[in-house]
Amino acid sequence: MQIVLATRNAKKVPELREILSGAGVEARVRALDAFPDAPEVPETEPTFTGNALLKARAIASHTGLPAVADDSGLSVDELNGMPGVLSARWAGRFGGSDRDRANLDLLLDQLTDTPPERRGARFVCAAALVLPDGVEAVTEGVLRGRILRERRGENGFGYDPVFVPEGGSQTTAEMSSEEKNAISHRGIAFRALARDLADML
Ligand code: IMP
Repeated sequence: MQIVLATRNAKKVPELREILSGAGVEARVRALDAFPDAPEVPETEPTFTGNALLKARAIASHTGLPAVADDSGLSVDELNGMPGVLSARWAGRFGGSDRDRANLDLLLDQLTDTPPERRGARFVCAAALVLPDGVEAVTEGVLRGRILRERRGENGFGYDPVFVPEGGSQTTAEMSSEEKNAISHRGIAFRALARDLADML
């Protein structure tokens, strides 16, 4: 069986492959690069689940194959859950390769006067699976933590350098990818989806 992962982020493909094989799902995970004519799907929904479904539906319908998509972001308590679905473009649409840095700088500025006890946040990921016959499944993963005042660590991406998971002391940018995947919002959502997929097959 083949599955298409509806993302241009090359790092997510090996991660999904590993999680599916760990769940006993024998599937060939194909990256979107294998389908050059696949549509770009704008993330226009107000929820992670809505955006993940939007992408998986578009790619299942374009390729005729089961499609998996995810949408994720950081929800900060003090900002009433923002940046949320706007996490990737919080500092504006046109950040280019410096976008992650600009997003993180803006977030730290916004939290300048926020004391430690009010710096709670969570990473959220929704993962959607859409089969060509229209059957759909969605799972969600959450990783709770807090936002530091300064960056620490070189790994990961996005807001990782300032995010410390609950009960820990390292930022997710100080963890190896294996350590992060074991607890991350994306790991939780993908593992749950892999179990759904194993049941559906
Ligand atoms: P997307 O799911 O690829 O659209 O990512 C949305 C945005 O949320 C990313 O650009 C990051 O800013 C943020 N984000 C999502 N997951 C993580 C994570 O694991 N670490 C750091 N930032 C993340």
